[in-house]
Amino acid sequence: MKKQPICLAILGLGTVGTGVVQLLESNLGEITRRTGREVKITHVGTRRQRDDIDKTINQSADLMNIVTQDDVDIVIEVMGGTTTAKDVIIHAIKHGKHVVTANKALLAEHGNEIFALADEHNVKVAYEASVAGGIPIIKVVREALSANKIDWLAGIINGTGNFILTEMREKGRAFDDVLAEAQALGYAEADPTFDVEGIDAAHKLTLLASIAFGIPLQFDKVYCEGITKITTQDVKYAEELGYRIKHLGFAVRRQLANGEEGIELRVHPTLIPDDELLANVNGVKNAVLVDAHPVGQTMYYGAGAGAGATASAVMADVMDLVRALSCPSAETANSNLVPHLAFLPQNLDNTRILSADEMISGYYLRVQVKDDVGVLAKITQILSKSDISIDAILQKPAHELGEVPVIIMVDPVMERNMNEAITKIEALDSVVDSVIRIRLDELIE
Ligand code: HSE
Repeated sequence: MKKQPICLAILGLGTVGTGVVQLLESNLGEITRRTGREVKITHVGTRRQRDDIDKTINQSADLMNIVTQDDVDIVIEVMGGTTTAKDVIIHAIKHGKHVVTANKALLAEHGNEIFALADEHNVKVAYEASVAGGIPIIKVVREALSANKIDWLAGIINGTGNFILTEMREKGRAFDDVLAEAQALGYAEADPTFDVEGIDAAHKLTLLASIAFGIPLQFDKVYCEGITKITTQDVKYAEELGYRIKHLGFAVRRQLANGEEGIELRVHPTLIPDDELLANVNGVKNAVLVDAHPVGQTMYYGAGAGAGATASAVMADVMDLVRALSCPSAETANSNLVPHLAFLPQNLDNTRILSADEMISGYYLRVQVKDDVGVLAKITQILSKSDISIDAILQKPAHELGEVPVIIMVDPVMERNMNEAITKIEALDSVVDSVIRIRLDELIE
């Protein structure tokens, strides 16, 4: 007997929703050839009626009603936001619908509650599209690397931010001009401050850290710095020293002095060696480097934003669910799927997330000083008294004001010590401005 088609409801017809509709039109043959089951869109949730949508698809703005319909098996939430989207997803779960979402903000902030509810109702909330666009990084970390102990991961996980930094470095373009282009291309969030202040990357890092380490989602504990203070001057000095500035998210598991483990969750601009693969990930591309035992370092690269890339990830999740729904017993199939956060919910642990003060990183410091005799010695003395080891110093010639920028790169140090040393350096008479500091990481295995 021929099986019934699996019916989809798409909530939101913006960049991603439209991309999913187009992908289904263009690749339906390939998709069906892989799953052996027909899929069709039965409903779309949209505020405005669209003429370009197949007339057999029901269009409605009543999202709560759509997700209760009998001819909906999977709800695809691609409208974003953390209020209506949350209510609708919860409603869908309570009505026994599986959910596919690209909503990293919602999951990072409310995922613990949403996943628990989904488990209770024996449905899945799939979220490949929420991190790194078209790169199947959730599947990789959650499934392909599942036999490993993951020590750390570092990723360029915001396409808009990477696009801006790349254009600034390669073409000397102004920040606002590049951001406007990223918005026009559909890369940026509805509120682009999420991209440039690092919040979007922090949402994604929250998800990656949970599935890497088996910890609950803890967005509120991510240290977050954006790219708005990066100047072309620092980009140039970094290049002279053999580094590139990238906006990276780090999730790092560390052994503490007391024998316990701690986890660093941080998002910030970072100098990395210019011959590292990550340093050469440009434009809207994303990449995630994972350091795990015993596999070693592996890296994943691809388009981090945009309609086609995100739709690709959404449909891969849909296809997983189509396979599960096609098992003789959907309930058995569901219980065999990988846990939402990779580890069994009862096995998630409460490893402490370290405070910013306790984080360890190398640093690039730019100190603007008067060209006085002995100033460099005073700075290096402060650093050595704080047990901070200098890796390189670059002093530029004095300009007409008699001031010079001194660039100092230091080896990894605890942030608390770095802050104390910076306060002392800023108190020197010859230091004329606040010290610019950017973290630095050699990405060593
Ligand atoms: N605004 C996001 C980015 C979209 O630029 O990466 C993809 O999550």
